[in-house]
Amino acid sequence: MSKTLAILTGGGDCPGLNAVIRAVVKTAVNQHGWRVLGIEDGFDGLVGKLRWRELGLADVRGILPRGGTILGTSNHGNPFSYPVEVDGKLELHDASDRVVETFKNLGADVLIAVGGDGTLKIALGLAEKGLPVVGVPKTIDNDLKATDVTFGYRTAVGIVTEALDRLHTTAESHHRAMVVEVMGRDAGWIALEAGIAGSADAILIPEIPYSVNKLCHAIEKRREHGSRFSIIVVAEGAFPVSGEKIVQKSAAQNLGVAQLGGVGYQVARQIEQCNDIETRVVTLGHLQRGGTPTPYDRILASRFGVKAVELIAQGEYGKMVALKGTQVIGVEIASAVAHLNLVDPDGELVATAEALGIMVGR
Ligand code: F6P
Repeated sequence: MSKTLAILTGGGDCPGLNAVIRAVVKTAVNQHGWRVLGIEDGFDGLVGKLRWRELGLADVRGILPRGGTILGTSNHGNPFSYPVEVDGKLELHDASDRVVETFKNLGADVLIAVGGDGTLKIALGLAEKGLPVVGVPKTIDNDLKATDVTFGYRTAVGIVTEALDRLHTTAESHHRAMVVEVMGRDAGWIALEAGIAGSADAILIPEIPYSVNKLCHAIEKRREHGSRFSIIVVAEGAFPVSGEKIVQKSAAQNLGVAQLGGVGYQVARQIEQCNDIETRVVTLGHLQRGGTPTPYDRILASRFGVKAVELIAQGEYGKMVALKGTQVIGVEIASAVAHLNLVDPDGELVATAEALGIMVGR
């Protein structure tokens, strides 16, 4: 039976999104003879003025290595709390019924929502309103339960690792402490894995509130052993034992999503107060999300796209594709968004870092 699929990419962009779009279009068109419609700018394209375009094979040609998303995205378009200006002030309204209505008018049979925690929660809410939805998990933060890994994450780890390699030589030459702030929101995966791969001396993650004294002691100990420089990787969500996460904008100020950032400068100040070492801060920011995906992420994203179409062919709506071991399978979207996938402070990865002599905040 002929079908029309709609696809959108929501939340922060991430290397591999175009690989998913390409895989969906190729599989839908070549294997089933179905149509694919691309919704523009995430859920924004379904609230208010409908924005979409047809995606044929020619539209996805050459996009596999390209970063970002050809469809555009938005992390402010949550239809369940959509910002509307009333008397010059922003108010959050529930526009989800409008999305369901608009989707019906579009004439598509199913929506493929490619996104992280926020996008998948919206997808789940729409599925509960009867909209046929299939989810594809993406995020550089790797914080989604129900999939072993998300695409984009390995690319981000690679970018941070390369940065750490480069920072080593300048830190060593100047005998400095280099504090490198990385993304990850409430999860420390990027900091931990890139920190291990890039031979950091300390890694501070949200899952282990850090002791300033112990951090200072670790840097001092290195100096006593002849290493006059230190590399400290700090996840943006990290915070000291008696402190809190640094929030640049609260969820209320930032249309529903808190904006983290700035802990790197706090850590630098704390180091300079206790260690006699010149300290610099590098915030890698959106560099971690930009540019071409690694081969691993291209392959995973392609597998996810193909599997999403397969789930639709089997009528398995309300599901999300997920990597489990070596297999890509379908799981309930609800199971993916119930909890965040966080680093286990007592797990093997943290123990590995500690065995390598890396200070992990405690
Ligand atoms: O969720 C991905 C992510 O890059 C986080 O690591 C980061 O906190 C956030 O998005 C940044 O969002 P924005 O693009 O709105 O600055």
